[in-house]
Amino acid sequence: MTSLLRPLAVGRVELKNNLALAPMAGITNAAFRVLAAGGGAGLVVTEMVSADSLKYGNKKSFRMLGLRPEEGPVAIQVFGADPSSMALAARDAESAGAAIVDINAGCPVKKVRRSGAGAELMKAPLLLADIISRMVRSVKIPVTVKFRVGLEAGENLGPLLARAAEQAGAAAITLHGRPASQFHTGPVNLEYMAETAAAVRIPVFGNGGVENAAGASALLEAGCAGVAIGRAAVFNPAVFSEIAAGLSGGDVPPPSGADRMRLFLRFLELNAELYGEEHGLARARKLVGYWLKGLPGAAGARSAFMRLKTLKEAEELLIQYTK
Ligand SMILES: Cc1cc2nc3c(=O)[nH]c(=O)nc-3n(C[C@H](O)[C@H](O)[C@H](O)COP(=O)(O)O)c2cc1C
Repeated sequence: MTSLLRPLAVGRVELKNNLALAPMAGITNAAFRVLAAGGGAGLVVTEMVSADSLKYGNKKSFRMLGLRPEEGPVAIQVFGADPSSMALAARDAESAGAAIVDINAGCPVKKVRRSGAGAELMKAPLLLADIISRMVRSVKIPVTVKFRVGLEAGENLGPLLARAAEQAGAAAITLHGRPASQFHTGPVNLEYMAETAAAVRIPVFGNGGVENAAGASALLEAGCAGVAIGRAAVFNPAVFSEIAAGLSGGDVPPPSGADRMRLFLRFLELNAELYGEEHGLARARKLVGYWLKGLPGAAGARSAFMRLKTLKEAEELLIQYTK
């Protein structure tokens, strides 16, 4: 029997393993992706970047394309509903050094859907196929697409969309096993995921609710070639190594509180390099509560963190937790 943990090819891109970091807006910036790559992810994915904003030269969106060598292979995820803007965005992603360009066809957020993008593309397989083929013709890097099993519960659109994507030239699919109406909560539909994985030859990354090796095994045994992990990585970017060890029959203990704090300090340094110290710390505010969770005096440290302006102050506050 082949191991569930294995190297995986997406088009011509060889990934060291089949465990990917799922794209998360507001979270998977370059700083976080460095931690996830160091934590064992075979592929990391950016936050979604607007193709229209890139087309109009939006500086913030172009900054989101900035990659670091320590990230390993990166997929830049773009969203939009206009095939020519998406083709241009694919070129921008390729020029930025992406190994892969990924299409967001699963975002349930109203603002995104109102523009015809994200999960709205699941209603329009011909448009989705047109977007994919225009992007494929515009770049040399593989084009992949991420969507959901359906829009509403009980709807299984995966096999049809996956075949359309494969025929249009997509090199892989990430399938979130929850319908768009469920956003990010509730169970995934394993049966639907298995049907989609069986419908195409290109690799399907199963996604949704995976927190450990048992969760990853369930998706891989259902026929997924790989697994994409979102929230379980947010406060434990080493979850990929833990899952890899578990899939290989081994055991890597979860990180101690001190390990986590050292990682968080590394994250703050990387954030400071990206955005400057003050802004980098401000961006980390919404995450600090989770990183400190369970540590003694966490509530006080959390509120003190909100007032910090320099990395030195952050180190002084958090050093007590790294020992
Ligand atoms: C805060 C947050 C932001 C997200 N942003 C994106 C995004 O930009 N693009 C995307 O395709 N999916 C996005 N997702 C969905 C995740 O990629 C993933 O499909 C979802 O969280 C389910 O996986 P999980 O249960 O492992 O977290 C986001 C999810 C969360 C929680």
